[in-house]
Amino acid sequence: MAEYINPDYVPEPEKMNVKKGLEGVVMDTSSVSKVNAETNSLVYRGYPVQDLAENCTFEEVAYLLYNGELPNKSQLEEFSKKERSLRDITKDNLSVIKALPKKCHPMDSVRTGVSFLGCEDERIWDATPETNLDKAVRLLAKIPTMVAADYRFKKGLDFIAPNPSLSIAENFFHMCFGKVPDTKIVKAFDVSLVLYAEHSFNASTFTSRVVTSTQSDIYSATTAGIGALKGPLHGGANEMVMHMMIEIADPTKAEQWMIDALAQKKKVMGFGHRVYKSGDSRVPTMKKYAQVMADAIGDQKWMQMYNSLEKVMVEKKKIYPNLDFPAGPAYYMMGFEIDFFTPIFVMARTTGWSAHIMEQAANNRIIRPLSEYIGSPQRKVAPLSERK
Ligand code: COA
Repeated sequence: MAEYINPDYVPEPEKMNVKKGLEGVVMDTSSVSKVNAETNSLVYRGYPVQDLAENCTFEEVAYLLYNGELPNKSQLEEFSKKERSLRDITKDNLSVIKALPKKCHPMDSVRTGVSFLGCEDERIWDATPETNLDKAVRLLAKIPTMVAADYRFKKGLDFIAPNPSLSIAENFFHMCFGKVPDTKIVKAFDVSLVLYAEHSFNASTFTSRVVTSTQSDIYSATTAGIGALKGPLHGGANEMVMHMMIEIADPTKAEQWMIDALAQKKKVMGFGHRVYKSGDSRVPTMKKYAQVMADAIGDQKWMQMYNSLEKVMVEKKKIYPNLDFPAGPAYYMMGFEIDFFTPIFVMARTTGWSAHIMEQAANNRIIRPLSEYIGSPQRKVAPLSERK
């Protein structure tokens, strides 16, 4: 349908206060994380993300995001024990995931699985802080099981049950591949989960806060967050980066490929950011671990391509890679299918979403912005017989 815009519409500059894409709009306070564009820094609850990535496990970071403080030893043990005990999903949920069309994108599978999880929870309308925290840990524990089940089913393989003696990162490899790789590879994966865990009011977090602001439940808010994350301008970019690198195929062709892409004014996936304008604070850490993966598999092809693409983009446009640029090839080198890269992002970002959902619920006001109307002026409804 053609978009109707009133031809007589004259924007009145003093009235027009449209912030397209909500750019620059501060819509609430938050104590979960801070993205500082000036210093290229990202802190979770006050801790620089690169320090967390190097010194903490994903479980510790999940605890931090949910509770505001890093856990001590006994708090971590208790938290992990609970998370590990909640990893199983019901037979019904498994069969829902199995029944989905084989061609359905894994993001649609995990969105459906989380939605089903909400249907199974009898406390769905109970949104006390304690219950929401409990549900957040359930999501953290069960989402990897759903993603791995979908991974296996799509390949025609049997489901592998979660192993409670393994960490979240180790267990995910176990459930996908039936084995846990070298500790270096597990660390690279764990780092990616820490880096992907939280990023202030990004599109999917904002979506989950909007849903929460209506006093809807955490499963609905998470399902909506997954829907927003799927798009290639957001989380879906990590998959697009790898498709692009496979299309380029040869690192010696990467420079010319980028020159041509820019000449054609193409949006190159994995570059640019709404907030960071001179580099994404998470990239150096993720690039380091993508390099660890290249060394582990003994193939430098993707990192050579990474460096060539980055060099041309920075030189010609001063646009820098975002986290999806190193994460894409890192996951590929770990052996994951490309369309599972964004569901892995979900496994991580469920922590940030839940932290924001709890924060929004604790101090809520419905989120309801305005729009500038540019449609038809007011008119009368003509009887059907008189309409042209
Ligand atoms: N490739 C080429 N040019 C890009 C670019 C990219 N990835 N990202 C931004 N630009 C250019 C735009 O063409 C625009 O140039 P112009 O002013 O000459 O028209 C300028 O930079 C501003 O970009 P814009 O799209 O308006 O920024 P935004 O804040 O609305 O969008 C993103 C931010 C992240 C959506 C955008 O950079 C993008 O689409 N990146 C690729 C997808 C991606 O990697 N997403 C993951 C984000 S973490």
